[in-house]
Amino acid sequence: MTLSPGSTELTLEPAHQPEETPVPSLAELTLEPVHCRPELLDACADLINEQWPRSRASRLHSLGQSSDAFPLCLMLLSPRPTPEAAPIVVGHARLSRVLDRPQSLLVETVVVARALRGRGFGRRLMEGLEDFAQARGFRRLHLTTHDQLQFYAHLGYQLGEPVQGLVFTSRRLSATLLRAFPRAPSPRPPYKAPSVTAQTAPRAHKGPSLPLPPPLPEPLTSSLPPPAGLPPQSLLEMQYQDLRGCPIFWMEKDI
Ligand SMILES: CC(C)(COP(=O)(O)OP(=O)(O)OC[C@H]1O[C@@H](n2cnc3c(N)ncnc32)[C@H](O)[C@@H]1OP(=O)(O)O)[C@@H](O)C(=O)NCCC(=O)NCCS
Repeated sequence: MTLSPGSTELTLEPAHQPEETPVPSLAELTLEPVHCRPELLDACADLINEQWPRSRASRLHSLGQSSDAFPLCLMLLSPRPTPEAAPIVVGHARLSRVLDRPQSLLVETVVVARALRGRGFGRRLMEGLEDFAQARGFRRLHLTTHDQLQFYAHLGYQLGEPVQGLVFTSRRLSATLLRAFPRAPSPRPPYKAPSVTAQTAPRAHKGPSLPLPPPLPEPLTSSLPPPAGLPPQSLLEMQYQDLRGCPIFWMEKDI
């Protein structure tokens, strides 16, 4: 990947981030699990809350659940600008196991710091997490998006079908609680999505043999299974909506 180190100055909103920080160099970025860098939990929570405001306690609780057993939160980090300063949290994404698809992961909460967007960090984050997942034996990534369809298509993702993400691993939800989730939409005229053409071909499989992912944990979810009786989603049509009834695109990529 071409490096584009800039001398531009920028301002990051979270209070703990330095007010003026050199734009990180793509070559220096690392991708690290949140639970390996607990000292950066606050900065990561601020980064996510900058995009999707939520109570700090709730965000920290969610990030605190990150573990090697999934769900797992990854941070895109820039090295500390000065020896005394903390590394800059440039981006975040969460990976969860998928019900009945042991070689799949669900990618959620993908975000790059507002002041750093449009400089290649989103691509670096996505390609980094693909490498991360592939190195652990996973073969397919799934995600949803409301309005970043073209970004993901540009990175090789195609429209796909809903999967059930396994968010909680500690206990199984009761059938009563599961029935309380709203049902997926009933059949209706398909929503016409913008044409999706991946301009970047998926990267070739790297490395000879990779470990198989560990067995799936007990299934629990925040995402809904595909609506029964609906035909598969085509490249130009989408038939899904989120829990608030907003149109949503399911996308996937083989890695
Ligand atoms: C979506 C997001 C992560 C992208 O990060 P980014 O750093 O701005 O993206 P990049 O600069 O790395 O862009 C990577 C490539 O995608 C392209 N791209 C980015 N956004 C695009 C868009 N909306 N449509 C089409 N192409 C897009 C860029 O041109 C770039 O192409 P190139 O690498 O071939 O030059 C970032 O905008 C963000 O955090 N948005 C708010 C949170 C959000 O919506 N997250 C997604 C939730 S589903």
